Amino acid sequence: MPPALGTRRVVLVSGKGGVGKTTVSVALALSAARRGQRVLLCETQGSTRVPAIFGRPSKGYEPMQVATNLDTLSITPAAAIEEYVLLQLHFHRLYRMVFRNRIMGPFVDAVPGLHDLVQLGKVWFAERETVAGRPRWDLVVVDAPATGHGLTMLGAPRAMMDLTTSGPFYENAKLIADLVEDEARTALLLVSTAEEMPLRETVDLYSRLGNMRRLVGGAVLNEVHPSPVPSPAEWSAARGALLETGGGDVHAAVDLVDDELRAVSRQADARSRLAALGTVAELPFQFHRDLARADYDSFATAIEGLL
Ligand SMILES: Nc1ncnc2c1ncn2[C@@H]1O[C@H](COP(=O)(O)OP(=O)(O)OP(=O)(O)O)[C@@H](O)[C@H]1O
Ligand SMILES: [Mg+2]
Repeated sequence: MPPALGTRRVVLVSGKGGVGKTTVSVALALSAARRGQRVLLCETQGSTRVPAIFGRPSKGYEPMQVATNLDTLSITPAAAIEEYVLLQLHFHRLYRMVFRNRIMGPFVDAVPGLHDLVQLGKVWFAERETVAGRPRWDLVVVDAPATGHGLTMLGAPRAMMDLTTSGPFYENAKLIADLVEDEARTALLLVSTAEEMPLRETVDLYSRLGNMRRLVGGAVLNEVHPSPVPSPAEWSAARGALLETGGGDVHAAVDLVDDELRAVSRQADARSRLAALGTVAELPFQFHRDLARADYDSFATAIEGLL
């Protein structure tokens, strides 16, 4: 049994595009914050969706409190590089000379994985930030890029170590690798819906993780539909009788129930495939789709078993 997510310092949330990574990141962060952990939720790639969920304008890279025990910020590669260089050089003018000129700019864009590495570098930095001698945040939740890119990001510190083999870049990359490859401190949480494509991508990602598989601390099956009828067995008898009563509306209603029942059976299949990854939490599909704060609060309750 891998350690529960609540004992880790960093949780990276990934899955196919659009499956609910941001939704799950918010739910997990809220759940941990409710339990009294001080949580930082990091969006990546410059995404700034989280503050709006809490009815606030984004402050970008600067941490801002959005709920009790919950801060958020948005990491962009450019802001992370700037912070990193300023920390190294302690000198704004030098930064502008070196990084904003035409020599270094293309270099930063061209080094493979540097954007991913510096974003993880910010996570590493947040993890070790202290206030009055204790960690500023107990848990850093990262709304990470989608599956393929997420995997590249996770491998970015190793890639930099292989590229440089020694020197300050190597040493910094090693510090980050030590954190993100340590299953006692870092977890991966994989999100999927019951649709075949996202599910396959998630299971595929899991198999491609290789020895990093040990980081996986569970999975979330999102957008779970309730069964449209109390007893599918009784439905199969009743639907024949219903269809005999005729009428276009009856046919449409029967089709709808059949569709929903197929969704429910896909979910059963998804549940068992995700179970191979570890503990699975489920979030219900909210038919109104336009999620409100109350939905995130109920998702936070639904997901608390992972902590
Ligand atoms: N359980 C749910 N019920 C209803 N709507 C949902 C549910 N989960 C997510 N959504 C909606 O689906 C959309 C996609 O969710 P979300 O933004 O969390 O996905 P994502 O994986 O972060 O997407 P991206 O890859 O674009 O970052 C959003 O509009 C969100 O509000
Ligand atoms: Mg997202």
